[in-house]
Amino acid sequence: MFLVISMTKITVSIIKCDVGGWPGHSSTHPRLEAVARDRLQKAKGSEKIFDFEATHVGDDLNLILTHQNGPDDEEIHSIAFDVFEGATEEAKRLGLYGAGQDLLSDAFSGNVRGMGPGVAELEFTKRTSEPILAFLMDKTEPGAFNLPIYKMFADPFSTAGLVIDPNLNHGFTFEVWDVKEHTRVFLNTPEDSYKLLALIGAKERFVIKRIFPKDEHKLPSDEPVVAVSTEKLVDVAGEYVGKDDPVALVRAQSGLPAVGEVLEPFSFPHLVSGWMRGSHNGPIMPVSMDDADCTRFDGPPRVVGLGFNLDVDHNLVGPVDHFDDPAFDNARQKAADITDYMRQHGPFEPHRLPLEEMEYTTLPGILDTLEDQWEGVEEDYQKAETVNVGEVE
Ligand code: 13P
Ligand code: 13P
Ligand code: MG
Ligand code: MG
Repeated sequence: MFLVISMTKITVSIIKCDVGGWPGHSSTHPRLEAVARDRLQKAKGSEKIFDFEATHVGDDLNLILTHQNGPDDEEIHSIAFDVFEGATEEAKRLGLYGAGQDLLSDAFSGNVRGMGPGVAELEFTKRTSEPILAFLMDKTEPGAFNLPIYKMFADPFSTAGLVIDPNLNHGFTFEVWDVKEHTRVFLNTPEDSYKLLALIGAKERFVIKRIFPKDEHKLPSDEPVVAVSTEKLVDVAGEYVGKDDPVALVRAQSGLPAVGEVLEPFSFPHLVSGWMRGSHNGPIMPVSMDDADCTRFDGPPRVVGLGFNLDVDHNLVGPVDHFDDPAFDNARQKAADITDYMRQHGPFEPHRLPLEEMEYTTLPGILDTLEDQWEGVEEDYQKAETVNVGEVE
């Protein structure tokens, strides 16, 4: 007799795109989500996907899909591309701002990567219960996930299970991307923690891409438990068109951080870069879907956390709007206070991003206008050097 074990591999994908803001960069018009739902319902009807959720944070339209095709799949990506094209048409009709902002090419060639949209995908063997959380951010960049995800999977002061649960105690493997050099490195926690922090503290360059269970873990070590979108718009467009508002997928429980451990790091509204014109540091505010629209100074940067289970037919059971909870009121208050404090710096760093990070914003256009007005000061320096400080008249 053969023992038949059901090993269903499932893929959860978030594919997101700013196809137009309502108004400015603040929110997403409900009709864009309606277009998305309509098209995704058709894809579900023809059994190309199991299930979907179409939602937004700020001006970013987020599609959460379950299917069995694996990551980077042409059929799945073309469904998303079709949604974004349709939503862009609707955005144009409605006169929304920056219609098609992140859809930088209209020639789909098998994959939306490198076309503007952000992508986070996890393929894994489905457990009996599969708690999975989608984090969606607006007005910031992929490195904004470094701190909270490090805390979830590597900080014992945040995730108690790392200390008290034998299933988490051996730690995890982090895949970190250098988004400038287009290289990656794998680092194990806890043994490589300091090296990991040395990299991911520089969050504009080194970004946590995925996390894997280690060999000794009860889950397969080649199936990621975290995925973060790392697409950089400026690499595609060659100029500033918007920030790379990121998304992440995190699996939880049974050898992974509990849902509450996954949420805990967001009680600290850490500073991220983005906000107004993609050019400022500010706190990330955890918000409910009802508050997922950007207002003050086009922000402050926001994150929503949506929790799901997957049913026997691989439907998304949810979302649970995790930050719709007074337990995060203090974080929101702190973010509002930090917003006041940072705003008072006006155009000064470190509210405004350092010059190196401003390279791909509109600031160089201002600096260029002064190009002919600069005068040399070399002579003054020479004079200063010849002064003998020991000589007193
Ligand atoms: P599991 O590790 O069994 O998923 O549960 C731990 C937990 O939820 C504690 O809060
Ligand atoms: P988005 O990246 O969300 O489109 O915002 C761009 C911007 O300039 C906000 O001020
Ligand atoms: Mg926008
Ligand atoms: Mg946005």
